[in-house]
Amino acid sequence: MNPSPSLKGQAALVTGADSGIGKGVAMALASAGAKLVINYAHNHDAAEATVNEITAAGGEAFAVQADVSHEDQVKEMFAQMFAKYGTIDILVNNAGLQKDSKFVDMTLEDWNTVISINLTGQFLCSREATKEFIRRGVIEDRSSAAGKIICMSSVHEVIPWGGHVNYAASKGGISMFMKSIAQELAPHKIRVVGIGPGAIQTPINKSAWDTPEALDKLLTLIPYNRIGKPDDIGKLAAWLASDQADYITGTTIFMDGGMTLYPGFADNG
Ligand code: BGC
Repeated sequence: MNPSPSLKGQAALVTGADSGIGKGVAMALASAGAKLVINYAHNHDAAEATVNEITAAGGEAFAVQADVSHEDQVKEMFAQMFAKYGTIDILVNNAGLQKDSKFVDMTLEDWNTVISINLTGQFLCSREATKEFIRRGVIEDRSSAAGKIICMSSVHEVIPWGGHVNYAASKGGISMFMKSIAQELAPHKIRVVGIGPGAIQTPINKSAWDTPEALDKLLTLIPYNRIGKPDDIGKLAAWLASDQADYITGTTIFMDGGMTLYPGFADNG
């Protein structure tokens, strides 16, 4: 994989880019030459810190607050992006969260929150981006595609996850959402791809890596024997958004150190 695919002159929106995987993706797209919108829901200071890191490295970025599960806020975010950059070339649907509990104890509120942000948020953002991709079409010297949508999924798109039923359902939903719009939008030269990260060292799973005991337990699930970093996912996202991946659409690339290889079967079964 070429670590520096060119995204020169392309406008990219990354949702939930104030921390974790979203931040790693935003940094990687910026270093490949894209100009960024750093979306965040609540943490203004963290979003500004991401913007500052990008601009300090010679890139271009600005932060926009929006809860991706609210249609009016999503539309306003795209309006701000178009006012500044004129268009969108790359959307990374990254914003997501976990609200974990045993299934029998799961509240409707926690179910709805996770589905709304993780899944409905991807619908709302993708729809707005698609309208612009179709309106504008391909710009030959920028990209072979009219637009690229990257849907951040998870290994839990395919690995069932007790105690996290709302989250796993949202990721399973993202899989069919991504494939269905990829099928519908390919004739418009719009590519839609998923990324299925495994355990990446971010705030969302801190309790799984922040003590040596927790990390040892986590590593039993990862044949490659290391936890992932946001930059791993960032490099993949930059490559998927570039013309180097121009023939990829409608599939999820798992980046998980082998977590989806059923490691429990290595010496069992
Ligand atoms: C979850 C993390 C978890 C990882 C592997 C991710 O989608 O957000 O909490 O560590 O999957 O299980």
